[in-house]
Amino acid sequence: MLTRTLLLQMAQNRSLETFARKNSLAARLARRFIAGETLEEIVTPVRMLNQAGMTVTLNYLGESLTSAKDMERMVITYLDLMSLIRREQLKASISLKLTSLGLDMDPKLAQQNLEHLVEVALPDIFIRIDMEGSAYTQTTLDIFYTILKKRPEYRNHLGVVIQAYLYRSEADIEELIRLKARVRLCKGAYKEPPSIAFQKPDDIRANYLKLMQRLLLEGNYPALATHDLQLINAAKLFANEHNISKDRFEFQMLYGVRRPLQQQIAKEGYNIRIYTPFGDHWYPYTMRRLAERPANLWFALQSIVRK
Ligand code: FDA
Repeated sequence: MLTRTLLLQMAQNRSLETFARKNSLAARLARRFIAGETLEEIVTPVRMLNQAGMTVTLNYLGESLTSAKDMERMVITYLDLMSLIRREQLKASISLKLTSLGLDMDPKLAQQNLEHLVEVALPDIFIRIDMEGSAYTQTTLDIFYTILKKRPEYRNHLGVVIQAYLYRSEADIEELIRLKARVRLCKGAYKEPPSIAFQKPDDIRANYLKLMQRLLLEGNYPALATHDLQLINAAKLFANEHNISKDRFEFQMLYGVRRPLQQQIAKEGYNIRIYTPFGDHWYPYTMRRLAERPANLWFALQSIVRK
């Protein structure tokens, strides 16, 4: 628990990030979780996943951007990414964070950037708004609701994420079901206080299970994002018992995490999408992945040393 907290604190430390980005060992460690630093580098790994029967959702790494120049680069990269997806005929959607589109500078700006990207993404590329720390939950949902109200037809082209560790999520899920919105359900990756979030793994899992069942029964093509075998098996069983066919939902997992399980799920005929980040701003993302399973730090270091 101490290591997890420490790694999550390190994830937010800018000086450590500057140090890590100059350090080739850290960059190699990050490679386990990111598909490449440039657009060109991601084509082969994405194609390999597609060939193995998995779709992909691509995320250009970068969050909490506060300079107009960085944000512009972010928007341009997403536009280039959409061209690449179409040109290379990749089976890929996009996942992005509103803080990478200017949320910290001005929520209206983030909304405008998002709306512009969705217009370009139509009709064939789906965009998912990742959910960040609790300081952003309401604003993120407000932006999503505002867009959906203006353009209800975006319902199948733009989706959000709900984190099972937050107490508020049960009510959020009901509202999203009512709107027929596309939801990705995850446990939640940030450090949140007990006043707003479940802390014990069993409590988070129990809430995930409850929300997952609601989404499977009433949701619009829910995405079940987890590597938790207990939850994955519970989803399969629940879907089977309630005659919910395999094409009505998808599993989602992270690039580089539990690969054999990813392949097995694809072979069983379920839809599975791999969240695949790329870019040079890999530090906070990699630190959150290590925090989820600190043992990875040692596995990754050992494999680098062995090379
Ligand atoms: P849990 O952490 O309990 O892990 C279950 C099992 O998987 C354990 O055996 C564990 O060892 C293994 N495992 C988990 N992580 C691993 C790792 N990094 N390496 C190796 N093994 C690992 N969060 C968020 O706040 N906002 C978001 O928008 C998203 N988006 C998102 C998309 C997708 C596709 C996924 C899979 C996850 C997210 N998350 C997220 C992250 C999510 O909230 C959560 O932090 C992680 O998925 C870890 O939780 P699990 O459900 O996998 O369970």
